[in-house]
Amino acid sequence: MTLAELEASCADCHACPLGDTRTKLVFGVGCETADLMFVGEAPGEKEDLSGIPFVGAAGKLFDRYLEAVDIPRESVYIANILKCRPPKNRDPLPAEEDACIGYLREQVRIIKPKLIVCLGRISAMRLIKPDFKITREHGVWFQRGGFEMCAVYHPSALLRDPHKKEDMLVDMKSVKAKLDELSTK
Ligand code: URA
Repeated sequence: MTLAELEASCADCHACPLGDTRTKLVFGVGCETADLMFVGEAPGEKEDLSGIPFVGAAGKLFDRYLEAVDIPRESVYIANILKCRPPKNRDPLPAEEDACIGYLREQVRIIKPKLIVCLGRISAMRLIKPDFKITREHGVWFQRGGFEMCAVYHPSALLRDPHKKEDMLVDMKSVKAKLDELSTK
């Protein structure tokens, strides 16, 4: 299956009630052969309206970190655990994650990234381990099913608490260093 075919199969998904309330599906964006994939939580308002992940205020801040560590946005793939916006940006419900996670797994199978970076706690709890503690474990690398994975703070958390920005830069530099290591292997 290609990514386009997967996106088409996801387009009129109603496996959970968010399929009825979304404006647009936010499937994912970026390089289909990326070594590095970022996985956020769920679309917000701007994403729901545009169909593109991380284009709102948090996304703009995230873009600044990508730029700061010299990772072109178009060289990576960006997706979310949920493809549809939860009402008022509430946290995803476990049943919504269960209904949606198969699409992300298929995206990973097709893209075959080497590094997966979770943006925030919700994504890390789903993809790395259920008891993931973002304040203690951000920037720590884990091996999971053939991938190297870590989590960094969600950009929205940085907007709420600018003190976390220093840690975010350190973690994003570590992501860039891992990426550079791949090309010397
Ligand atoms: N927050 C997320 O987790 N994902 C988006 O796409 C936008 C904001």
